[in-house]
Parts: sequence; C-alpha cells; structure tokens
Amino acid sequence: MIMNVNISPKKYDLVAQFLHWSMTLILLYLIFFSHFEELPDAVMESEIELHSGLGLLIVVLGLVRWYWRKTRPRPAPVETDPPWQTRAAEITHQAFYALFLLAPAAGIVLAGLVAYPVRIFGLIEISGWLADNEGAAELMNSVHGFAADLILYLLIVHVAAALYHQFVKRDGLIWRMTP
Ligand code: HEM
Ligand code: HEM
Repeated sequence: MIMNVNISPKKYDLVAQFLHWSMTLILLYLIFFSHFEELPDAVMESEIELHSGLGLLIVVLGLVRWYWRKTRPRPAPVETDPPWQTRAAEITHQAFYALFLLAPAAGIVLAGLVAYPVRIFGLIEISGWLADNEGAAELMNSVHGFAADLILYLLIVHVAAALYHQFVKRDGLIWRMTP
C-alpha cells in the first residue's frame, strides 16, 4: 500500500547546498571587488568583463535554484521559532531571489549606458545598446550599487540569524546547509 506521508528532509540536498555556497562566494566577490574607479583603464575593462560574466551567472544559478526550491522537498521551518521569525526568514529568502534578478538587471542597463566596452567573459559585447549618457549612467550606477548594498544588508541579517541559531539556540541549523 502506498502511504501519502509528507516527509520533510532534515537537510537541504546537495544541489541546493552547492548552489547556496557557490552563489555566496560569487556574490561576496561581486560586492567586495567592484571598486573599478581606482584601476588603470585596461585592468578596469578586464575586471568589468569578469564582473559582468559572474553577475549574469548569478541570474542563471538563481533561476535554477528557484526551480529546484519549488520542485523538491526542503526542511520544514524550525518548530521552536516564533511565527514572526519563520515569516522574517521566508521574506529574507524571497528578497534574495528577487535581488538575484534585480541587481544584474540594473547591471545590464548600466552596461548599456557606459562609455567603455563591456564584454561577457571577453566574448559577447553587451555595452552601447543605449545612448551614451553620463547622467543616466551615474543614476544607474547608484541603483545597481544600491541593489548590491541591499544584498549585503540582507546577508548581515541572514548570517546573524544563522549564528543566533548556532550559538544561542544551539539547534544546529547551519548543518542543514552542509553535507
Ligand atoms: C548580483 C549581481 C551583481 C552584483 C552584486 C554587482 C555589484 C556591483 C557593485 C557593488 C558595483 C560597484 C558600484 C559602485 O561603484 O557604486 C558594480 C559595478 C558595476 N557593475 Fe555590477 N553587480 C552585479 C551584476 C552585474 C551585471 C550582470 C553587470 C553587467 C552585465 C554588471 C555591470 C557593472 C558595471 C558596468 C559596473 C561598473 C560601473 C563603473 O564603475 O563604471 N554588474 N557592480
Ligand atoms: C550572499 C550570501 C547568501 C545568500 C544570498 C543566502 C541565501 C539563502 C537562501 C535564499 C536560503 C534559503 C534556502 C534556499 O532557498 O536555497 C538560505 C538558507 C540558509 N543559509 Fe544562506 N545565504 C547566504 C550566505 C550564508 C552564510 C554565509 C551562511 C552561514 C553563516 C548561511 C547559512 C544558511 C543556513 C543555515 C540556511 C538554512 C536555513 C534554514 O534551514 O531555514 N547563508 N540562504
């Protein structure tokens, strides 16, 4: 007889874990190694090529991750958490997924506005599809930088919550995201 039991796993599966940690590394790189203005022009152009390629990779990995999240079972919310914490975690996670699209989207528009060439990993040129406009480029740079700042602020909240679980509640939540 087949029983219809709703099993929620104790951990995220390996694919979800791989996506979580690889995207964490890429996002930290994108956020902390994007001070192009101090670099000589040639170095700046190749750094921005790498930046744009990795930024687009965030879109691809983010979409795969969203699909995976919707189609596979994942661990249930922590039973001992008050409902507001469960809700706050859910909102934070959803906001991350929105920013995996919004930050790169702003980056693509920014690349369209800047005066220098932007190529994805040196191959596909994605700049120059909008009129070269310094004012609009500056505005878009702020929007793009703000989206990256939001990812960083959410990350601080997210890591604080993980550390709270690990060291105050001592419920071993971090092990859900490790093999
Ligand atoms: C989640 C993905 C991304 C993050 C977290 C991110 C983050 C950043 C940050 C923090 C800056 C520095 C902003 C400032 O100086 O205030 C920056 C600059 C830039 N980003 Fe991104 N970025 C991402 C994706 C992309 C994508 C997909 C593209 C293009 C296709 C792109 C193109 C650029 C360009 C052209 C600049 C340099 C503007 C300049 O200084 O001339 N970014 N990015
Ligand atoms: C920019 C970096 C990060 C982002 C964008 C991020 C995003 C997320 C998201 C969206 C989830 C929900 C699961 C999913 O949909 O895949 C999650 C879960 C989790 N993250 Fe992160 N994360 C980041 C960094 C970190 C770091 C540095 C830690 C550890 C200190 C961490 C610990 C965890 C844990 C323990 C869970 C599981 C939570 C639970 O089971 O309810 N994350 N993360």
